[in-house]
Amino acid sequence: MKKIRLAITGVGNCASSLVQGLEYYKGRNEGAAGLMHARIGDWGPSDIEIVAAFDIDRRKVGKRVEEAIFAKPNCATIFQTALPVSDVVVRMGPILDGVAPHMADYPDDEAFRPSDEESVDIVQTLNNAKTEILVCYLPVGSEAAVRYYANACLEAGVAMVNCVPVFIASDVAWARKFRKAGLPIVGDDIKSQVGATIVHRTLARLFGDRGVELDRTYQLNTGGNTDFLNMKALDRLKSKKVSKTESVQSQLDERLDSKNIHIGPSDYVPWQNDNKVAFIRMEGRGFGNVPLELELRMSVQDSPNSAGVVINAIRCAKLGLERGIGGPLEAASAYYMKSPPEQMRDSLAYELTDAFIQGNDGVDEASMKAARTTIGE
Ligand SMILES: NC(=O)c1ccc[n+]([C@@H]2O[C@H](COP(=O)([O-])OP(=O)(O)OC[C@H]3O[C@@H](n4cnc5c(N)ncnc54)[C@H](O)[C@@H]3O)[C@@H](O)[C@H]2O)c1
Repeated sequence: MKKIRLAITGVGNCASSLVQGLEYYKGRNEGAAGLMHARIGDWGPSDIEIVAAFDIDRRKVGKRVEEAIFAKPNCATIFQTALPVSDVVVRMGPILDGVAPHMADYPDDEAFRPSDEESVDIVQTLNNAKTEILVCYLPVGSEAAVRYYANACLEAGVAMVNCVPVFIASDVAWARKFRKAGLPIVGDDIKSQVGATIVHRTLARLFGDRGVELDRTYQLNTGGNTDFLNMKALDRLKSKKVSKTESVQSQLDERLDSKNIHIGPSDYVPWQNDNKVAFIRMEGRGFGNVPLELELRMSVQDSPNSAGVVINAIRCAKLGLERGIGGPLEAASAYYMKSPPEQMRDSLAYELTDAFIQGNDGVDEASMKAARTTIGE
């Protein structure tokens, strides 16, 4: 059976977990811990093949992808040491706004170190590798770089899975471009398997469904990987805050006033490495207007948590390609991403994504219409 031909841009911690996972799940099937679906269409996780990779860090560019994923400053858990030797070398991409100036103030082991090589021709490299899908793993705030790769996808006829909070699938004009090109896109901003966003969304719905009025809430996150270091630059953080906050707001029957909801990355703690700790607090009123408080602390390894979802998003994008669907895959985007074109309850997004996977395409438009009126409308 033919493999799914995947390119990655941004060979950081999330890419490391994804690439390790492709090998780890070889021969591990239904019921294996960490997999939502052993098969989607005809494809298991190990039917995804990396055929091209781009980065800008001098410790990664020029290395084979299976070596580059373990190069500094990556610090994701290594759960699969033995990886097959590939002939895929990480190629230099355009830096654009990928590297924040403050990275230079941090030690080599913690920060990006741009190579001074010239960028390769991205479209040509995608074409030469017969790429079908590109996963975008660039740093938060790389507005120009993400758009550059989105354009390259359109030019090279490649589908996109956008894991970054730069709005492409959820932007009307960009969505139209992908629709017009007949290319599927799943985006934006990956929602981890059991991460702070899905837990916070679920609790927000729980309050609403059980009649508890939510008055205020926060979600504070700390971590020690380059994703957290990058987000110390507040000017890069805007879209991440919007993406995370709206993801929770979308689950409320009535939006909270912006002063009563605070969600975002809160600090960089180097020794935490890829361990992310989230603190969620919710204050509300239940029966008899009596106050109720909820406090939660969650500790996860950030990058494998996202790879467990990306591995499905890629296979859904491939289904989209096979079925000739152009534009955002709405159900998969709603279930797998924080900022999809249409927000809906996760229980409904789960059902609609499964229907899509089963080939029940007819359900899509009608159910989408119903889903749009489910929350807050
Ligand atoms: N659970 C999660 O980890 C999670 C969840 C949601 C979203 N995301 C998002 O996914 C993205 C990737 O996360 P990560 O933890 O792998 O980040 P990372 O910092 O580990 O990796 C980013 C990589 O991009 C490279 N890079 C920088 N500029 C580039 C450019 N112009 N072209 C090509 N490569 C460039 C860096 O060298 C680095 O290898 C981030 O935007 C993050 O916010 C991650």
